[in-house]
Amino acid sequence: MSSLDMEKLVSLCKRRGFIFPSSEIYGGIGGFWDYGPLGVELKRNIKDAWWHDMIRTRDDMVGLDCSIIMNPRVWEASGHVGGFSDPLVDCKKTKERYRADQLWVFVYRFNAKDAPGAMIEFWWGSLGGGPDEARPAAEARASKVAKKLGAPVDSSVVGYMQVAPEDREKVIGPSVEESGTLTEPRSFNLMFKTYVGALESDSNVAYLRPETAQGIFANFKNVCDTGRVKLPFGIAQVGKSFRNEINPRNFTFRSREFEQMEIEFFCKPEEAKEWYAYWRKTRFDWYVSLGLQSDKLRLRDHDPDELAFYSTATADIEYAFPFGVSELEGIAHRGDYDLTQHMKFSGKDLTYFDEDSKSRFTPHVIEPSAGADRATLAFLCEAYTEDKVDNDTRTVLKFHPRLAPIKTAVFPLVKRDGMPEKAASIHQQIREKFASFYDEKGAVGRRYRRQDEAGTPYCITVDGQTLTDDTVTIRDRDSLRQWRVPSANIDVIIGDMISGKLQPPQGEISGGSES
Ligand code: GAP
Repeated sequence: MSSLDMEKLVSLCKRRGFIFPSSEIYGGIGGFWDYGPLGVELKRNIKDAWWHDMIRTRDDMVGLDCSIIMNPRVWEASGHVGGFSDPLVDCKKTKERYRADQLWVFVYRFNAKDAPGAMIEFWWGSLGGGPDEARPAAEARASKVAKKLGAPVDSSVVGYMQVAPEDREKVIGPSVEESGTLTEPRSFNLMFKTYVGALESDSNVAYLRPETAQGIFANFKNVCDTGRVKLPFGIAQVGKSFRNEINPRNFTFRSREFEQMEIEFFCKPEEAKEWYAYWRKTRFDWYVSLGLQSDKLRLRDHDPDELAFYSTATADIEYAFPFGVSELEGIAHRGDYDLTQHMKFSGKDLTYFDEDSKSRFTPHVIEPSAGADRATLAFLCEAYTEDKVDNDTRTVLKFHPRLAPIKTAVFPLVKRDGMPEKAASIHQQIREKFASFYDEKGAVGRRYRRQDEAGTPYCITVDGQTLTDDTVTIRDRDSLRQWRVPSANIDVIIGDMISGKLQPPQGEISGGSES
């Protein structure tokens, strides 16, 4: 998908009710998004699939749902109060604010026109996750200057943080024409602050959690004391997190309010390496099992200089989004850092007594930490397809049936002869188990197209034959195959199709057309 197609996806999301800008009627608010009727089902299905596959169907996992606002000491212990910050640069002229680690400086040198041998330099600041993303804006500026001075003699790029302090004055900000408007980088804490109770004083400060993980560590003892858990085991949580991101961007990819799906998997120190390898693979395979192509995914191991001081290994699962290859989930080997910190700050004993070896120790932790919104965006990007049907371009979202917001749409072929009544009763029968939609408006071909755009994997049509032999056609979204099945156990058939037990039959298309 090209960057132009990202615009198409954003527009489809808006048009079909997947994702809207938050509080849009008031002009929106940067970094916040709302999920519409289809989007809420899609995101819920992703969270449910994660919960089902990672927690409910495993003996070594339990769940948790803890409060968003916690005792602020939690965030001192975790290091977020002291260190959860990004380097920030302000533009004194436009009042814009940039993340210094996402500001790239492109130095272009041109021959001066009126002074042979002399050079003119331009230090253009441009924004992007990496230099490649930032380059087009700098190139556009360079080609304007090149019209007057001729092609540049050379060019180079460096991160703003790496520009020598005495050279920062030379940098031209992304939205201005003159140099010297950017400030020195300074630290900016990403946590949203609030006050608990009536007094807005320093002693009442609290934070909206920037990750769900710390709630798990803070409840480790509660779960051990009450949950009959035995190492190795994991505690999982899905919930909202908040980060006052300086540059929210790329649609929902970097938002200020988002949902995380996090696991803290506790194990014996000597087994941690194996569990790290296990979770690295298990989480990668999970995305593939739900339809992300493995060649668009990659596991990137962090270089030693990227690792937190307590971590011996961390890997990111990255996905080739239309705007670049970016992080979907992180899997970190966190050692005993978090439990040790919380013991220090709370004074409570969070060690574990192992009955088998009769020994007490601090468990080590493997943390697979995923974002529900980033996963939703990746599944949307992967699903978005344009193909040709009957010489028309069809836009279709090819979601895995488990994730599709609506599983079936039921249509009467025409609005008479008892077909609407029959179709409505089939719709009722299915919706007891799966999200279903009833539609009797317009030509059946147009109804198919509407469902294709919503990503509905199966359309069921009641036609003249239904009234004689009680069979209906199922139409498969991706292969466009249609075949007849008895209507009596349609809900079971749909269930088997969703779970993959049943596939669309091969061979002839039996009855029905696209129009
Ligand atoms: N407890 C570890 C932790 O929070 P992280 O890499 O900061 O690690 C984990 O976040 C995941 O949360 C990311 O891989 C991403 O999927 C999601 N995430 C983080 N910041 C986000 C943001 N601003 N917008 C959307 N998702 C975000």
